[in-house]
Amino acid sequence: MVDKYEKIIELAKRRGFLWPSFELYGGTAGFYDYGPLGAMLKRRIENVWRDIFVINEGYYEIEAPTIGIEDIFIASGHVGGFSDPLTECQKCHEDFRADHLVQNIVDMPDTLSADELTEIINKNNIRCPECGGKLGNVYEFNLMFRTSIGPGSKRAGYLRPETAQAMFVDFPRLLKFYRDHLPFGATQIGKAYRNEISPRQGVIRLREFTQAEAEIFIDPRNKTHPGFKEIADIVLNFYSQEGQINGESQQISIGAAVNTGIIAHEFLGYCLAITYRYLTRVGVSPEKLRFRQHMKDEMAHYAADCWDAEILSDRFGWIEVVGIADRTDYDLKAHAKQSETDLTVYVPYDRPKKVERFVVKPNMAALGPRFKGKAGKIANALKALRQEELSGEFIELTIDSEHIKLEKDAVVFETVTEEIHGENIIPHVIEPSFGIDRIMYSLLEHSYFEEKAIEEGEEDEVRIVLRLPPQVAPVQAAVLPLLTREKLIKPAIEIIESLRKAGILVTFDDSGTIGRRYRRNDEIGTPYSITVDYQTLEDGTVTIRERDSMGQVRASMSDIADNICDLIYRGKSFGNAGRRV
Ligand code: ATP
Ligand code: GLY
Repeated sequence: MVDKYEKIIELAKRRGFLWPSFELYGGTAGFYDYGPLGAMLKRRIENVWRDIFVINEGYYEIEAPTIGIEDIFIASGHVGGFSDPLTECQKCHEDFRADHLVQNIVDMPDTLSADELTEIINKNNIRCPECGGKLGNVYEFNLMFRTSIGPGSKRAGYLRPETAQAMFVDFPRLLKFYRDHLPFGATQIGKAYRNEISPRQGVIRLREFTQAEAEIFIDPRNKTHPGFKEIADIVLNFYSQEGQINGESQQISIGAAVNTGIIAHEFLGYCLAITYRYLTRVGVSPEKLRFRQHMKDEMAHYAADCWDAEILSDRFGWIEVVGIADRTDYDLKAHAKQSETDLTVYVPYDRPKKVERFVVKPNMAALGPRFKGKAGKIANALKALRQEELSGEFIELTIDSEHIKLEKDAVVFETVTEEIHGENIIPHVIEPSFGIDRIMYSLLEHSYFEEKAIEEGEEDEVRIVLRLPPQVAPVQAAVLPLLTREKLIKPAIEIIESLRKAGILVTFDDSGTIGRRYRRNDEIGTPYSITVDYQTLEDGTVTIRERDSMGQVRASMSDIADNICDLIYRGKSFGNAGRRV
């Protein structure tokens, strides 16, 4: 039997959503082209993301190169540890992800070392899934595409494996842009590259894919969110650490999840809420969406909490489409160290604080005559000493390789009370990371329906319909003259022009029966079809047909563009778009 995945991929190829890349030359796994409708659908999905993260949340978008220099990925840990365990068939030489081969035998295979995986494969006599051959020892394969920058191979470069790093590298510039105030965030939508070992799941696992990521820099002492109250009542399907141990998810409000400590803090809870709003707005079914918390041994050691938005797919089960993590100060610390740059932020206190400070005052009257030109250096070294370093009988210093032993009377020290107005901190980072390709596939799956439809004489036909939300549907309106007569084509063209002026992507179709034309548009998700007929010539009205209900209204041609924009973007109900027919 043909499953839903195959039906969707067949439709996607036939109607121009997705095409395997390089088909002319036989293709290569892990790459897909977005055809004319796919590229438009993807753009619209990205624009809804922008609407939420950039316009609503105010996290401006940046655009950085997709190639990065080695320092970046040394700091981020990708050079050292961004790998998957690989095993190669000794007979057919096909490569496989070892953790995937043992996933029905052990829990959490992605936490096992290469040696442990080799042992499990040997012990269980796991053979090559393609030819039954013996599998080789498992080793860690780095997933980054390496290249060199400039002629020769003088400087190593890597295709970025995530878009996130640019926001860390640009941190000092972003801090200035946001006038030195926390919290702030920056976003990027763009390509990421991973040399996946055996990508066999269509656009779910690609070697070149699109991420939309936000890096939000916050004060670690305040992980609340000013908008939390407004989203606290949203109920989500949580699959928490405890839930995974008991094998059950729970439907509770985000407020309750934060209050009971299931989610680490408000800021993360808020990010889960906007992720939910985004995914459901672009067409993911809420009942096929859950938020899975990373288990303790799955989470990076520096992460404070981490949640994946997972979407249920007919063929693949639950797939991760978004990762939302509190990455603490890990990234900024790592880049500060690698670049030898201060990446702290000065945060003023609401009210100045009084603090006691230990001060060392060098006795220049004694040091000057004894050390002459070196006295200044010695004085500075003395000032840098801590109280405990002054507790011995003598003070010992090394200045310009010379060992110097001083009597206690070389310094006086005292404790002074000072008023301080702020301090330097390293921000923590909250990161929602979205995989646009996986989201796009999921909403194709969730919006794909086959149903019996009796309409316009097409009796007992199965209609395929993509119930995409109108604001993401690639083609937004179809204009259909009932007959190919000059008289009807003229007003149809006028309608098309007015829709185009309003920014609506519109298609014209005058071939075949009206029923066939509706079907052609239903299966690409066109939400509204506008039919021009003889009545149009008499009273200036047209028929608007709604894709999902197949209901029809009669509406004026003169304000058709406003009417369609209201339906697509401003939540107007179809019943209010005209007179029911
Ligand atoms: P997986 O475990 O499925 O490989 P991941 O944990 O490596 O995913 P992240 O590193 O968290 O994924 O990446 C963030 C998002 O980027 C994911 O939620 C996913 O939507 C997307 N993504 C990651 N790898 C790929 C890929 N090879 N193809 C398509 N999308 C991807
Ligand atoms: N930036 C998160 C990830 O791609 O893994």
